[in-house]
Amino acid sequence: MSAAVIDGKAFAATLRARIADFAATFEQSAGRKAGLAVVLVGEDPASQVYVASKAKQTVECGMASFEHRLPAETGQAELIALVDQLNADPAVDGILVQLPLPAHLDEQAVVERISPDKDVDGLTPISTGRLALGLPGLVPCTPLGSLMLLKDQLGSLSGLNAVVIGRSILVGKPMAQLLLAESCTVTIAHSRTKDLADVVRRADIVVAAVGRPEMVKGDWIKPGATVIDVGINRLPPAEGAAKGRLVGDVDYAEAAQVAGAITPVPGGVGPMTIAVLLRNALVAAHRNAGVALAEGAL
Ligand code: GUN
Repeated sequence: MSAAVIDGKAFAATLRARIADFAATFEQSAGRKAGLAVVLVGEDPASQVYVASKAKQTVECGMASFEHRLPAETGQAELIALVDQLNADPAVDGILVQLPLPAHLDEQAVVERISPDKDVDGLTPISTGRLALGLPGLVPCTPLGSLMLLKDQLGSLSGLNAVVIGRSILVGKPMAQLLLAESCTVTIAHSRTKDLADVVRRADIVVAAVGRPEMVKGDWIKPGATVIDVGINRLPPAEGAAKGRLVGDVDYAEAAQVAGAITPVPGGVGPMTIAVLLRNALVAAHRNAGVALAEGAL
């Protein structure tokens, strides 16, 4: 048997087209574009690529993009002052501070400073609390994108056994909350979990978000299970090659023989993250401007 391939790239393109339609309608109603601000501190090459990609897709969807690139030696007070300025700016509906920040900065204090109304990353204690309480709010982009792919693939998730591998604030914890809200029976596994392979073998849904290349093997997967691979890891370059291959946290070749459906890396979860970020910014824009948006429209 060979698994269905979940095409996140195509799903994200469809979502962006819908966002562009709603962004145009928003601009007519509000008399301004929805706006997303992205803050990058330092010169981390991967972060620079993400931030450029975010800005490009924001503009392509008909929204305003505000980019703030600060030097690596930026101080805490200066960064907090920028967040305050963006919180107060009526043209800015969403604020994303690219993580990780340089080590001398207090990441938690910076995130907590973001207005919950503009928290498109869903990382403030208010957003996190609302998710845990089952209240509407802004949800972290990668887990929400993963959930969209799962619901598109499976329809109702009610009663399914879901195992989330990884307990990060950005992915594992919010993913577990979202699956719980869909009435899954949720297990959060992590680096200390005993008999991890056996735990994963019980899962109808596996979400792998640990950042370890090809850790989840084919014989860990229950036949027919749906596998969402959040990992993006670059292997060391092969002899003579400039760059190593990109792989996920799942051994794709093995798992695809057993799973019912699986996301590839690249082209699975990855493209969903920015699309959902734009979605979150547009949802925030409607709320901030007092423009109605039908529940579940985006
Ligand atoms: N760095 C890697 N992924 C993310 C993300 O989703 N949000 C932020 N703010 N930083 C990141």
